[in-house]
Amino acid sequence: MPEILHDFYQIKPTKLGCEVRGVDVKTENRPEVIEKIKQDVAKYRLLIFKDQGVVSGERQVEITKWFGEVHSTHEQHPKSPHPDVFRVSNDPEEGHYGIGRRGWHIGGGFLPIPFYYVLYHMPSVPKKGATCFAPLSDIIQRLPAAKRSDWDRLWMVSESHEGVVHPLIYKHPITKKEVLCFHLGMTSSFIYDYGTDYQRLTTPEETKKIIKSIDEEFVKDGGNILYKHEWEVGDFIMSDNLSVGHEASPESQIPRSEVGLRVLHRTTAKGEVPPSK
Ligand SMILES: [Fe+2]
Repeated sequence: MPEILHDFYQIKPTKLGCEVRGVDVKTENRPEVIEKIKQDVAKYRLLIFKDQGVVSGERQVEITKWFGEVHSTHEQHPKSPHPDVFRVSNDPEEGHYGIGRRGWHIGGGFLPIPFYYVLYHMPSVPKKGATCFAPLSDIIQRLPAAKRSDWDRLWMVSESHEGVVHPLIYKHPITKKEVLCFHLGMTSSFIYDYGTDYQRLTTPEETKKIIKSIDEEFVKDGGNILYKHEWEVGDFIMSDNLSVGHEASPESQIPRSEVGLRVLHRTTAKGEVPPSK
């Protein structure tokens, strides 16, 4: 696809989102450029800034503040460069190990209000260790009719936060497009027809079945709807977290001795309103 020239930078559409060149996120502070970037994150869902070198934890937190208040819910790792940076690694000495492999999810899908934006940067890129992203509106649009009506009635119950119940399908608060609120690894059950006289909690067997049926919509047809981001040195990703599901690839867990050190820094910006029908 051709590159699109903007006033401030060049963008090139990828399978999901765009690659961005011609802007240095380490030093960029012009309000008009920041505004344009925010608009483009909403429009394209994923902006992948290329050739950024290594961005410090402090600077990543500053950039996250472009999108609102920083909201950190993670555990600290001794090697994290900043309390608001969640540091993930394929070496437990370097960062939290085994993260992002519990199923497709949005960042903070288990929270009362999921993150609106999630930023990702890899200061150390291994030979293999992709992150996979999925366009949520597109997944909803291609649902078979029966599944669509079933999902319309479903609400997820958070495993970690008591009383948190989210509609599976709802309208994105900013773009108004239909998206999913979900975390396939942190859902204790679902409720059918929540808030009505007919509401009903799913049995453990049903819950498992529903989780499987959601997962199937991501991986069917060889996962051809997915965008697998193979990290390159200097990549800095800004995501509209509510529009894209994600999951770490199985290769992200290959040990350092085989593929080199993988270090991912994730920061998160607070949401404003809970998902609602
Ligand atoms: Fe995640």
